[in-house]
Order: sequence, then C-alpha cells, then structure tokens
Amino acid sequence: MSARTIWLLLAGLAAGGPALAQLHQQLPDPLLGRNWAAGCTGCHASDWLSGRDALYATLLDFKSGRRPATVMQQLSRGYDDEQLRAIADHFSGRPAP
Ligand code: HEC
Repeated sequence: MSARTIWLLLAGLAAGGPALAQLHQQLPDPLLGRNWAAGCTGCHASDWLSGRDALYATLLDFKSGRRPATVMQQLSRGYDDEQLRAIADHFSGRPAP
C-alpha cells in the first residue's frame, strides 16, 4: 500500500466518521423493539407476524377496540404507538425507517 493510498484512507475515515456517528444517532435503538417484542413471544410464535404495516394496523385496531379481542385489546394499550411500530418492525425483520 502506497503512502498516498494510506493518506486517502485516513482522509476518508476522517470525513466518514462523524457522518456515520450522526447517522447512528438518528436511528432508533434496534434493541428497543426487540425488548418490547419479547413480551409477545410468550404467547405467539413470531412466524405469523409478517408484514410490518399489516401488523401495526392490527395492533392499533386492538388498541382502539376496532378489533374485538380478549387479551390483545388490554395488552396493546400498554404500549404507545411508537412502541407498537417498533414491535411491528421487529417481527417483520425490517429495520425502522
Ligand atoms: C397473554 C398472551 C398474549 C400475549 C402476551 C400477546 N398476545 Fe397477541 N394474541 C393473543 C390472543 C389470545 C389473541 C387472539 C385475540 C384475542 O382474543 O385477544 C392474539 C392475537 C394477536 C394478533 C392477531 C393475530 C391474527 O391472526 O390476526 C396479533 C397481530 C397479535 N396478537 C400480536 C401480538 C403482539 C405484537 C404481542 C406483543 C406486544 C402480543 N400479541 C402479545 C394472546 C397474546
């Protein structure tokens, strides 16, 4: 590796480092969704929880009572909408946008 290449690499790191750190700060903590979702897997296998938007919509329906339920109606009220979205993200295996 030539000295020139090393300098280019260092310059790239210097420029890329802070930008990357900033990006990480903007991203929500991916573990939060996983932790909240851990409360679901006691009763559910996670494989039926597919599409994120569909799951999120179902959870909101439970929460509002639009969809009658015995357990889920009470349970979904324990989470705010942002938490429900993070849970839906978790089960769909997609990182939060
Ligand atoms: C105490 C057991 C229990 C826990 C914990 C639980 N659920 Fe449920 N879930 C149920 C039951 C029972 C139903 C059927 C609807 C009802 O009667 O509440 C259901 C239904 C659902 C449905 C609809 C399934 C379908 O086929 O349409 C979704 C989605 C769901 N739960 C997601 C979740 C998520 C996400 C969590 C975690 C936040 C969770 N559940 C935690 C028991 C549970």
